[in-house]
Amino acid sequence: MAFMFLRESIRAYRENDPAARSGLEVLLFYPGLHALLWHRIAHAFWRRRLFLLGRGFSHLGRFLTGIEIHPAAQIGRRLIIDHGMGVVIGETAEIGDDVYMYHQVTLGGTSLSHGKRHPTIGNNVIIGAGAKILGPFTVGDNARIGSNAVVLEAVPPGATMVGIPARPVERRAARAGRRPGFDAYGTPAEGVLDPLLRDIESLRAELSELECRVSRVMPPAPARPDDARVGG
Ligand SMILES: CC(C)(COP(=O)(O)OP(=O)(O)OC[C@H]1O[C@@H](n2cnc3c(N)ncnc32)[C@H](O)[C@@H]1OP(=O)(O)O)[C@@H](O)C(=O)NCCC(=O)NCCS
Repeated sequence: MAFMFLRESIRAYRENDPAARSGLEVLLFYPGLHALLWHRIAHAFWRRRLFLLGRGFSHLGRFLTGIEIHPAAQIGRRLIIDHGMGVVIGETAEIGDDVYMYHQVTLGGTSLSHGKRHPTIGNNVIIGAGAKILGPFTVGDNARIGSNAVVLEAVPPGATMVGIPARPVERRAARAGRRPGFDAYGTPAEGVLDPLLRDIESLRAELSELECRVSRVMPPAPARPDDARVGG
């Protein structure tokens, strides 16, 4: 299990990070990978209700990598935390497969309740440097969160969200009548997906942009007065 985790994680780093020259380099010097190793240990203790040990390993991982992952957080396969410093992943956060995030990302809470208060991130989501995703909502598959965005409500699959508070944007490529493509630092793994999968991803992106346009024309009903947003 641990071997498979390492093998597929290292491969994901090498496929997505042009700076990664060898698997050994990733294994030795990529804090995002180290943080996930510490988290696996911490999470195993947490699941056995050895909470203090879980906390201890999580704290050690944070001390060594600058990446804070609560031991209870649920993390899917091949998560890449690029650069890593300053990332915070909260207790009830859930992360799907093939998610790519940069430094200073927060998956945080906005209430003091003990239940679900952190976001659920779908598969293939990109989260730009410094983005904050705050609250117990879902970020749909293939969504892209711009650097420094502050996301406060659910994100539809494939949407691109930017700004504070984050809002959906149409990609320049789509506006220019081109199919949205796959850019370094913006979407997963150009050149790794097979052509059929890439076409499907493009269609999904187009669909989500249409959804964004519709939601702009027909905004959702006003939200109920919410709990105070007070850290977490
Ligand atoms: C959000 C992101 C994925 C969008 O990429 P894209 O789909 O190619 O989008 P475009 O470049 O076509 O931009 C669409 C619009 O969003 C705006 N925009 C893009 N990123 C933005 C951001 N982070 N904050 C605010 N606005 C942003 C663009 O200015 C453009 O606005 P316009 O409609 O006024 O022209 C990308 O800009 C991004 O932030 N990626 C993360 C990169 C990162 O964190 N790198 C760290 C490397 S260490």
